[in-house]
Amino acid sequence: MPGSGPTLEFSVAPARIGELTDLMRTAWWMSDRTPRDVAGLLEHSDLVITVTRRDTLVGFARVLTDYAYVALVLDVIVDESQRGSGVGAVLLDAVVNHPELTGVRSLELVCQPDLVPFYRRWGFTDAVGGSRLMRRSTDERLVTRPLAEP
Ligand SMILES: CC(C)(COP(=O)(O)OP(=O)(O)OC[C@H]1O[C@@H](n2cnc3c(N)ncnc32)[C@H](O)[C@@H]1OP(=O)(O)O)[C@@H](O)C(=O)NCCC(=O)NCCS
Repeated sequence: MPGSGPTLEFSVAPARIGELTDLMRTAWWMSDRTPRDVAGLLEHSDLVITVTRRDTLVGFARVLTDYAYVALVLDVIVDESQRGSGVGAVLLDAVVNHPELTGVRSLELVCQPDLVPFYRRWGFTDAVGGSRLMRRSTDERLVTRPLAEP
């Protein structure tokens, strides 16, 4: 059907901030975000990536980077009803092939163990030379969340 394919964009129109907030709030680590929070994080992100289908926002990711050594991929989320239909792949393809990121030495992300095979498809590895993730956080969820929680 024409217009039913995914459309990739690298910005979020102010009119879509409410819709993006609703999408983000479906994920456990973003469940308390407000439209104001979302407007702020968009303003301070280096790259934002959205996927829409039939003019509905179905996928989002963002990146913080110095454009040389490190780029941190954050807040990858696909609308629950659209999962398994290639939207996440569109987002990850857009990240790893983005012209401003192809020269960056390390793309990094944090994920739960069940998503390691997903990110491996784009060349991410959890073999990090013995490095450990350390975190100093005021967000209790990020330091106590049981692995089994959905
Ligand atoms: C993770 C997530 C973004 C994947 O998005 P998606 O749109 O369902 O993924 P796609 O349909 O594009 O899948 C692309 C490929 O990865 C595979 N895949 C999807 N999830 C996978 C998983 N958990 N493990 C291994 N492979 C996976 C798909 O089968 C597909 O393979 P195929 O091309 O051979 O068919 C989505 O499930 C999501 O939003 N989850 C909740 C939020 C979250 O946890 N985000 C990650 C934060 S680090």
